[in-house]
Amino acid sequence: MTEPEAEPARPALPRPPGAAATSGSVHGDIAMLAARLFAAPMSLVAIAAPPRLQVVGVCGLAADEAGCAEVLVETAVRDATVVWDAGVDDRPVLPWGVRFHVTAPILSPDGRALGAVCVMDRTPRLGVSEPQAGALQALARLAGAELERQRQAADVTAHVQTEAQLREREASFRYLFDQNPNPMVVCAVRSFRVLAANEAALRLYGYTREAFVGLSVDNIRVPPPDAAARPPLPAHGPGVSFVRVATHRRRSGATFPADIRASAIVFGGRPAWLTVVRDITDQQRAQAQLAEAEAKLRQSQKLEAIGHLTGGIAHDFNNLLTVILGNVELLQESQPPDSAGAELLAVVARAAERGADLTSQLLSFARRQALAPHQVDVNALLHKMHALLARSIGEHIVTAFAPGADLWPALIDPAQLETAVLNLVVNARDAMPDGGTITVSTRNVSIDSAAGQPDAAPGDYVLVTVADTGTGMTADVLGRAFDPFFTTKEPGKGSGLGLSMVYGFARQSGGHVRIESVPGAGTRVLLHLPRAAHEKPQAPDPGERGTRGPGGHESILVVEDDARVRAIVEAHLRGLGYHVLVAGNGIEALDILMGPARIDLMLSDMVMPGGLTGLQLSEQALRIRPGLRVLFASGYSQDALEPPHGQDDGKRLLRKPYRRGELAARIRELLDAPG
Ligand SMILES: Nc1ncnc2c1ncn2[C@@H]1O[C@H](COP(=O)(O)OP(=O)(O)OP(=O)(O)O)[C@@H](O)[C@H]1O
Ligand SMILES: [Mg+2]
Repeated sequence: MTEPEAEPARPALPRPPGAAATSGSVHGDIAMLAARLFAAPMSLVAIAAPPRLQVVGVCGLAADEAGCAEVLVETAVRDATVVWDAGVDDRPVLPWGVRFHVTAPILSPDGRALGAVCVMDRTPRLGVSEPQAGALQALARLAGAELERQRQAADVTAHVQTEAQLREREASFRYLFDQNPNPMVVCAVRSFRVLAANEAALRLYGYTREAFVGLSVDNIRVPPPDAAARPPLPAHGPGVSFVRVATHRRRSGATFPADIRASAIVFGGRPAWLTVVRDITDQQRAQAQLAEAEAKLRQSQKLEAIGHLTGGIAHDFNNLLTVILGNVELLQESQPPDSAGAELLAVVARAAERGADLTSQLLSFARRQALAPHQVDVNALLHKMHALLARSIGEHIVTAFAPGADLWPALIDPAQLETAVLNLVVNARDAMPDGGTITVSTRNVSIDSAAGQPDAAPGDYVLVTVADTGTGMTADVLGRAFDPFFTTKEPGKGSGLGLSMVYGFARQSGGHVRIESVPGAGTRVLLHLPRAAHEKPQAPDPGERGTRGPGGHESILVVEDDARVRAIVEAHLRGLGYHVLVAGNGIEALDILMGPARIDLMLSDMVMPGGLTGLQLSEQALRIRPGLRVLFASGYSQDALEPPHGQDDGKRLLRKPYRRGELAARIRELLDAPG
């Protein structure tokens, strides 16, 4: 054996980080012993760390140069045998002029080759002795044992690290669980017992931790009415989760709807569900309110649409009925009383009046009724009606009137209010075939916000309630009660326009109406009327009907675009003794007004084609002839603001179709008014 030679001078290569240990390490010592064993200048211990070779010990070489011996180690690893390649070796891949090498594999405890111990010389040799070979294999076993020791040591470190990480994770989880504002409960999969709960959950359910943990989930859960229909829980397993809505119970016994989100976890080594519980009472209430508001909005949009449709038709009918009634009244004058002709005309007049009533209801519903709003003392009006109703409603029904104290005046058309209340009282009577009580009451109400009531604007209202103890309405009937022509009554008994009229009247007046009804228990209709700004109520002023009425000799200008209506009005007024001038539109009327003719009063239609409306005409007329009296006639108003609300506007409006008596009375009244 010769001592290892000094290294030949070679260019230095950069040393990679983490380069293998050499002297001082066990593997470095093994490399050195192997070189001594063969009296060779170079040796190395390397392990296969695919895709690279990792040199863990060298002798006579720098660790970063040893990679060149890969081919030797690879052969040893592949064959797991000692390579006795001791002859002359001219393989070009062998570096540093190596001519002799011997390699022993490092084996793992289960016999896999992990690396090799390799000895090299630049001088060829003839052979390797048995003891040398045995000693080299012993060194390779030593290297393997060292590797195993290192691996076990690394395992222990890793284990210690994992434990620390686990503890850290558990602490974070604890923190997130305990401090979480969402109530969280952990329960065992099989026993369904509560294993843990956070503060928020204890607050939600109202338990102390001691009382809560260990409780069966059945103590906090209300079984659904149809437990069989409940979908089964999913099988517990990694990544499994489910969502449920259920009814839960607090310790106080109070229940609440709960949104449950559960995830499968392992808790204390046992399969468990981690559930996040949310009290969704508010959310459900908000959803219900939203749905209700949407339904109400749809309902009022539907009524709005039908209103548009009916309004136009009713307007045309009004003019026709004015013509029919007017002509009947003229003909009646020429018939001797009790004659056959007079009787026939009376039948026609009644039919036409019934037609006029229906049209009027339709116009009310369509909010196209020409309203004559006054400040009305609603209590006085109802008091007067009550005496009348009590007599006519039938003996088996008790009628009561409960007037509210200090009732505000309402700004409404009193004749329309009478019709509306009549419709409601008749409905109440019809709902009580076996008798009962109708109560009409009034009181002041202030509405602060329109929450849930799309129709109700905030403000002050005079509330008129008509309540009965009758059959009540099913939800289906209630949903359609305001629809025009919706009736549950036998043919001929009801037209289905009563509530439609009430609805339109309330809305057009700037109020609203609502029905509360319980099948079998009765119905309440709440009619909200707008409060009048001024406190001085005026007496309602129902026009005279069916009489000839007072006449006069003044001069009257009639402005009306419908020729047939114009002819009737002219005939009536002449019959009453007046001097009459006629105009077919506003322009013609202005022509006459600017002329010399005497005119004491102008009777003008409200809605006219051809540029000027009745209101615009009256403004210009008053400029030409200040002090001129003006009476408007209309069966139709574009909206509730026409004519403008005011103290006297109600008196200046004649609603079509009007009877001759009303026409005569209004004209006389205006002509006789001072100033
Ligand atoms: N007080 C009530 N109690 C029970 N059901 C009612 C009441 N008021 C109205 N209804 C129901 O609403 C439907 C519509 O009422 P509405 O007043 O619009 O028409 P009508 O009474 O049937 O006919 P009309 O009033 O035109 O003669 C009625 O047919 C009835 O089914
Ligand atoms: Mg009715």
